[in-house]
Amino acid sequence: MPDSFSWRGKRVFLTGHTGFKGGWLALWLASRGAQVRGYALDPCTDPNLLTAAHIGSQIEDIRGDIRNPAALEPALRDFAPEVVFHMAAQPLVRASYADPIGTYETNVIGTARVLDAVRRTPSVRAVVSVTTDKCYENKETLRPYVETDPLGGYDPYSSSKACAEIVSAAYRQSYFPIAKLGRTDKIADHRVALATARAGNVIGGGDWSADRLIPDLVRGFLAGEAVRIRRPDAIRPWQHVLEPLAGYIALAEHLLSPDAARYATAFNFGPAEGDAKPVAWIAEKMTAFWGDGARWVLDPDPGVHEAGYLKLDATRAHAELNWQPRLELETALHWLVDWYRAWQSGDDMHAFTLAQIAAYEKLLTA
Ligand SMILES: NC(=O)c1ccc[n+]([C@@H]2O[C@H](COP(=O)([O-])OP(=O)(O)OC[C@H]3O[C@@H](n4cnc5c(N)ncnc54)[C@H](O)[C@@H]3O)[C@@H](O)[C@H]2O)c1
Repeated sequence: MPDSFSWRGKRVFLTGHTGFKGGWLALWLASRGAQVRGYALDPCTDPNLLTAAHIGSQIEDIRGDIRNPAALEPALRDFAPEVVFHMAAQPLVRASYADPIGTYETNVIGTARVLDAVRRTPSVRAVVSVTTDKCYENKETLRPYVETDPLGGYDPYSSSKACAEIVSAAYRQSYFPIAKLGRTDKIADHRVALATARAGNVIGGGDWSADRLIPDLVRGFLAGEAVRIRRPDAIRPWQHVLEPLAGYIALAEHLLSPDAARYATAFNFGPAEGDAKPVAWIAEKMTAFWGDGARWVLDPDPGVHEAGYLKLDATRAHAELNWQPRLELETALHWLVDWYRAWQSGDDMHAFTLAQIAAYEKLLTA
């Protein structure tokens, strides 16, 4: 994007701001001068990033359910946003086994509700709908997935996100059409450019979700207990939360550009090749960085089925958005340990979180 692009004064409607990724994105966009209205349920953990980093002081914080059009539609329409980031979801694989219907209602119908509300909100120009790397049909091979690969999903969460992709594609084609005009594509009629964003496991300060490796480790370390780890040999792609968020922001900027139609499609935001590591590697690094007698033990119960290693090919994001991972995994782990340590010490987590965002922004321009 031209350096002249500015978020100052841009009106952004963000679903899921009370969650982990949404909290970081809300603060980042607000720090760049955007006017952000968040729409989400109450935080589902205590502690949580929204409260810890005082994010509500920087944005308009609205609590509501994306499945409820009577609340969602006025919250969107009255704000007259230019950009919508849709991140609200039930994002956990194990929780989706326990509540598949709730997961489909939120992730599929909820996504349709958001896009349907966008359809009736003339101010919107760009939508970034966040799904996941798990939306691909996982053939358990080592070939990285490209955006045109078939969608799928073994478990309810993964398949609900594949469904959200299909819902988004249908809305794009049916209501936000792209007209082929000679050699250039133009957004026709509603002038909404809609893209989907697929990223993998993210890590960073302020995540307290159940059943995720980093929050599980931190909870155990803080309690002085040995942390039980399932499937230590499972290789997963890891990236700091700011990495995909930088991709979502870059994508939105491109969706607001004159050739927006080119970007109204799906994008992968995968980590660097070397940042796919076994769970045990992460646990070892975390215990070493944390110190203070932190430790983990093997949990022999493998739990429910979890997909094997799934690699994303992020060539398109690199070539078209100039996006690439900037933070090495070890540095990302240091950053997140620093974050939780600062929180434990009662530091000003608003300032601390902004400082990590500023440090990351330096990497973007380096
Ligand atoms: N964290 C990851 O590793 C990861 C990886 C890939 C994709 N994602 C995707 O990124 C997005 C954000 O994930 P996260 O890790 O921040 O999750 P999170 O659980 O921390 O936050 C989820 C957010 O969605 C909101 N929400 C849930 N159901 C809602 C409903 N019915 N109505 C309104 N709001 C609702 C919650 O209130 C919360 O604000 C999700 O779409 C998730 O699928 C996350």
